[in-house]
Amino acid sequence: MSKKRVAVLISGRGTNLQALLDAEQEAYEIALVVSNVPGAEGLNRARAANVEGIVLDHKSYGQNREAFERDLDALLIQHNIEIVALAGFMRVLTPFFVRAWAGRLINIHPSLLPKFPGTKTHQRALEAGESEHGCTVHLVVEEVDAGEILGQAKMPVEPADTPETLATRVLILEHDLYPRCLADLARALRK
Ligand code: GRF
Repeated sequence: MSKKRVAVLISGRGTNLQALLDAEQEAYEIALVVSNVPGAEGLNRARAANVEGIVLDHKSYGQNREAFERDLDALLIQHNIEIVALAGFMRVLTPFFVRAWAGRLINIHPSLLPKFPGTKTHQRALEAGESEHGCTVHLVVEEVDAGEILGQAKMPVEPADTPETLATRVLILEHDLYPRCLADLARALRK
């Protein structure tokens, strides 16, 4: 069976991209990495793995989000991409892009959704006195961090935890969860 061709969209350090690259298996291959930020560390990871990395700088589109996304969409189609995985991609996507890739667009979020969508998830989990925290892989829909949940990983919150210690431990869970969920989706789309 042929592997599903995946594009990973990044904006920064790309540790989740690295986990997806390291775990590549029969179900999917990372065929393209796109960064909206020039010089993002994740681009070096793509290069090291011999994966094409492209910068599409949103700043050159001014306020026109959809023009940026139309070019992004064209790039993905040119590369025969079948699944798009957001991995620390710091742009909210418009309905145009989300609809175009519905069911084939996934994200990883550092909280147990539906708890704590948005930013500062670790701090908010601590402030809320949560006894458990973790991460979620979900389909992307128009509402931010609200699509169907494909997988979650949980861990206990310890009394001495800070936002930083939570971030470190959740990231370890992310690196295990994301490749598994991506492989599951790739297999499901193959049927
Ligand atoms: C991760 O915490 C992910 O959950 C969030 O952004 C962060 C990206 O980190 N969406 P990295 O660039 O993959 O290291």
